[in-house]
Amino acid sequence: MRNDRNDLEKVIVSEAEIGQRVKELGERLTGEYEGRNPVVLGILKGANVFVADLVRAMDIELQIDFIMLASYGASDTPGEVRVKMDCETELAGRHVLVVDDIVDTGQTLKALMELLRMRGAASVRSCVLLDKPSRRTVELEPDYKGFEIEDAFVVGYGLDYAERFRNLREVCAIKKRVYAVE
Ligand code: IMP
Repeated sequence: MRNDRNDLEKVIVSEAEIGQRVKELGERLTGEYEGRNPVVLGILKGANVFVADLVRAMDIELQIDFIMLASYGASDTPGEVRVKMDCETELAGRHVLVVDDIVDTGQTLKALMELLRMRGAASVRSCVLLDKPSRRTVELEPDYKGFEIEDAFVVGYGLDYAERFRNLREVCAIKKRVYAVE
């Protein structure tokens, strides 16, 4: 079955806009991380597509790893994050760039960054494709970000609704009726 575009409200960020912004972020990160052999640590599953494009826009030596955390809404205690599947890389002494698809309340990213500091990383910074600042419940400002967006539930470019739409090339808002019926 094809992706059902009738469930989508509108395009929030187009494929061309994403491509241009990823290129800009990659150039900036190349300058900042040159000679530091960073670990680019993607948060699964949502960051998978962004990581794939971002690392190819960074023209430096780096390593890629992934970590999977407890699903959205599972932990509401800042500083606490459940690791479902850990990364392989020993992070002590390493420069870690955490990559996520979207920062919403900020709880996931804040908790993960605290965990990585506790593991002795030399530096921990964050890069997110999308930021919904109006939804923040904890103090957290991503170090690098693609786009600030309004408060809508979005899918595509790695982001899902119930595992659907991760493979869209653009970021779209989903119709309210799609997630209101469940
Ligand atoms: P936070 O801890 O509230 O910042 O949640 C971040 C995580 O929630 C992201 O990594 C996504 O997996 C998920 N999330 C938040 N907003 C959206 C959305 O609009 N679409 C899809 N996933 C979302």
